[in-house]
Amino acid sequence: MTLPFSALTHLECARCGRRHDADRVQNLCACGSPLLARYDLDRVRDSLSPADLAGRPQSLWRYHELLPVRDPAHVVTLGEGMTPLVPLPRYGASIGVPGLVMKDEGLIPTGSFKARGAAVGVARALELGARGIAMPTNGNAGAAWAAYAARAGLEALIAMPADAPSITRAECAAAGAGLYLVNGLIGDAGRLVAEKIAAEPGVWMDAATLKEPYRIEGKKTMGLEIAEQLGWRAPDVIVYPTGGGVGLIGIHKALLELRALGWLQGPMPRLVSVQASGCAPIVRAFEKGERTSEPWEDARTVAFGITVPKALGDFLVLDAVYETGGRAVAVDDEELLADRDRCAAADGALLCPEGAATLSAVRVLREQGWLSGDEEVVVLNTGAAAKYPESFRVDPPVLELTDRIP
Ligand SMILES: Cc1ncc(COP(=O)(O)O)c(C=O)c1O
Ligand SMILES: [Zn+2]
Repeated sequence: MTLPFSALTHLECARCGRRHDADRVQNLCACGSPLLARYDLDRVRDSLSPADLAGRPQSLWRYHELLPVRDPAHVVTLGEGMTPLVPLPRYGASIGVPGLVMKDEGLIPTGSFKARGAAVGVARALELGARGIAMPTNGNAGAAWAAYAARAGLEALIAMPADAPSITRAECAAAGAGLYLVNGLIGDAGRLVAEKIAAEPGVWMDAATLKEPYRIEGKKTMGLEIAEQLGWRAPDVIVYPTGGGVGLIGIHKALLELRALGWLQGPMPRLVSVQASGCAPIVRAFEKGERTSEPWEDARTVAFGITVPKALGDFLVLDAVYETGGRAVAVDDEELLADRDRCAAADGALLCPEGAATLSAVRVLREQGWLSGDEEVVVLNTGAAAKYPESFRVDPPVLELTDRIP
């Protein structure tokens, strides 16, 4: 029996386990919880091996059996995926973790890892017959979904906080999306988008974080790639800047699927969720040993993408952290900006503020002794530093035409 392009079988509620039909547009389970895509992994294991992937394109679509798009004609791509694992030897040594490696998602279309979720989410929306996608965003996801919607010929409606990185507005507008700025946070944008979707039935597919089941499937490819790039092996620790948490949940899901396939052996990497101390609901829940988080008041951080006061998938992030023996860590804006600059000076690698938060977290975990310093630690740089010009304070001397360089 030949393997189909996708081995998707059904959707399963992440909380109550109820089974849902994957072949129509679905949002949350009746219990209010996100749905997760499930695959016929036995069939994949019987018909496919890691060696079969070797000659495939260097994009996330190389894992198509483990992605939800059934017909290759519906693939929507701008060449996303297979970002490099870049060692950070000098910065790593300076903080006592010489085995520090960055997966650089700044090198992907639209300059953030959000392209992964958008590629797969938009492709599946197209396949299921959606006319348009609508979503609230902290900026980067909107930029990515607007671009992929344009690529697919779908309408896009995006609402983002007025404080989101200004380049992401320009990206949405350039891609032809309907764009609204909201004087509030992502949850406020989400409320307005949900009202609009309800007012125009059949026009907009709700693509808010975890409200549709396929964005996470795109993001999970970060986990698939880390394993493949390390020669079908997991690192000791993976550190992820957490807003809605989809990337971390996705990486965890990917590693579990690879283990079920027998493509990955040994212990799971310890998963570390990093937040900014100005918005750290998951960290607060972790410190209290709780399964869900409480909304964070007055959320504010320079790492704008992780300004999420209450994540729908908080329980999945916390489960992944607890199950793998990981941690949740909060870091201050000043320290993450300082670590960003130290890393750029040491290794030439300039991370976005969200990515830089993972550098501070690794430093702190080493200082606390949670890391011994012998581990292989992979941090996710989730976006390009160049998207955040506002986060730099640089004041070089200005020369007049008659001056000399001292
Ligand atoms: C650069 C960047 N990093 C991290 C995140 C957080 O993503 P997640 O929802 O996977 O936690 C975002 C979300 O906007 C982002 O833009
Ligand atoms: Zn349910």
